[in-house]
Amino acid sequence: MCGIVGYIGHRDAHSIIIKGLQRLEYRGYDSAGIALFDGKDINVTKTKGKVSDLQDKINSENNTVGNIGIGHTRWATHGVPNDINSHPHYSNSGDLVIIHNGIIENYASIKKELSNRGYTFQSDTDTEVLVNLIEDVQKNGNYKLGKAVQIALNQVVGAYAIAVFDVKKPNEIVAARLGSPLAVGVGDGEFFIASDASPFIEYTNNAIYLKDEEMAVIRIHKDTKIRKVKDDKLVDPYVQTLKLNIEQIEKGGYEHFMLKEIFEQPSAIKDTYRGRLNVNKGIIKMAGVEDNLEKFLNAQKITIVACGTSWHAGLVAEYVFEDLARIPVEVEYASEFRYRNPVISNKDVVIAISQSGETADTLAAIKLAKEKGAFVFGICNVVGSSISRETDAGAYTHAGPEIGVASTKAFTTQITLLSLIALRLAKAKGSISNSDFKRYLIELEMIPEKVEEVLKSDALSKHIADIYKDVSNFLYLGRGFNFPVALEGALKLKEISYIHAEGYPAAEMKHGPIALIDENMPIVVIATKYGHYEKIVSNIQEIKSRKGKIIGIVTKGDTEVKAIADHVIEIPETSELLSPLLTTIPLQLLSYHIAVLLHKNVDQPRNLAKSVTVE
Ligand code: G6P
Repeated sequence: MCGIVGYIGHRDAHSIIIKGLQRLEYRGYDSAGIALFDGKDINVTKTKGKVSDLQDKINSENNTVGNIGIGHTRWATHGVPNDINSHPHYSNSGDLVIIHNGIIENYASIKKELSNRGYTFQSDTDTEVLVNLIEDVQKNGNYKLGKAVQIALNQVVGAYAIAVFDVKKPNEIVAARLGSPLAVGVGDGEFFIASDASPFIEYTNNAIYLKDEEMAVIRIHKDTKIRKVKDDKLVDPYVQTLKLNIEQIEKGGYEHFMLKEIFEQPSAIKDTYRGRLNVNKGIIKMAGVEDNLEKFLNAQKITIVACGTSWHAGLVAEYVFEDLARIPVEVEYASEFRYRNPVISNKDVVIAISQSGETADTLAAIKLAKEKGAFVFGICNVVGSSISRETDAGAYTHAGPEIGVASTKAFTTQITLLSLIALRLAKAKGSISNSDFKRYLIELEMIPEKVEEVLKSDALSKHIADIYKDVSNFLYLGRGFNFPVALEGALKLKEISYIHAEGYPAAEMKHGPIALIDENMPIVVIATKYGHYEKIVSNIQEIKSRKGKIIGIVTKGDTEVKAIADHVIEIPETSELLSPLLTTIPLQLLSYHIAVLLHKNVDQPRNLAKSVTVE
């Protein structure tokens, strides 16, 4: 993962880079560093810790001068997080500095060769090996930086987004990507480099997204030249005008991005169905689906590949697609799918779900599915991301930037989009009655205001969080459409509060988890009106007779669960199929408040990263 930022122009590079790194901290935050060219020397400051620690160190070292610089916020792969392993890394001569996001898989053999030739290494990183390889190429062939970078990259195996600076040629930065995202912001006589557009959006809306195996030589006051790393072919830069604005990537008065994003769900869900759902006309329309309707309808099965929270959205979709469209669905962890020999052919449709559109395992799963001839449809949030480009067709969730590492609005908008697709296919197949179709359209349109209503339970969630914040274990139970919500609820709690939690289908409880239940165990049970209600009530009785504490998520007006549960949070009535869009909200709030009460770093939980661009 890691976030990278670079600047070359007339402004103060230090403040642009620090602010940019703060916006990219969702990508990694175990160490950070900056290199600034002060007109004579390149000065590096780096440290274990967060960007705020880097800022303190920069202040104490007084390293703030320069109009050219590169910066990095790290999520460690090779080498523990410490000052030395932090980026930027110098080459042996001290002339080159590099920042890198990715993994150089064959770094050990390159390191050995370079060591034999007298190179020494300070850090345990693959990145320091790469910068020395570039230096070695440059020296042996007397090459310019761009050429040396290109030759070196042709020798490496792995993934990279890099920015390299040469003190001997201080008017340029060379950037390249393979597998890790990289955008070049094009300003007026100035350029920005970043893992996403957030570091430069307040300066320019014009961006070039490098494609895999492309490199850019960025020169002050000159046009950026983009080439293919492999064959040196020049590529016409495609400058996109971005719609993103600065308010979207700031906290807007909320204490944390996660809370802001939880509260954005009513508008995010609306943005997902806007222009696609038309209740008056009784239609659902999505270009990516319409253009490929036959492929979906003729599919012998749909395989959904994803990771993390997106995988949970896929599980909800499995229930929805099978129920409405009667098409068999399998949901696979992308990381497993890519390494087995899946039975996939040109009769299959594969749906890849990814908030970031950059998850390495999901990308690899897509490549495999395409090799096997499947039609691959992408569901991403980040516009222009790698997955949106690699897939045959797709649709964006339009949830807006999600910065908090624990995914919230991405989940509900993915479910919204997948439900729209399932409904559209059901309609085309005739597997849904006209009246049911119409009813779902109306219900879906009403979801944002119902989410708004659930959000009013925030104070109650906080109260419950306060009671249970010190326990060591939580259980989450749900059935049918809400079983994946139980998994997601448990994941949210683990991710940000570090409390162990497990999600289970409620009926499976008696095959193991029941052994864990005692008076110290809180159990969140999703017990909505239409979801096998009587069965769940029996499960709750079984828990109560073992003294477990019940936090019930129930439909408004419920009396039965209320009578036996320790706490209940109500959600407005909706069909069971759409209920995950509501039941998930109190679970997000509960995790959020527990983490805040435990003084955890909600937006940047330890060891995690927002976008996992390594295997
Ligand atoms: C990381 C994030 C999760 C996310 C998962 C998949 O683990 O921390 O929140 O669900 O990656 O990410 P994607 O961008 O592919 O949805």
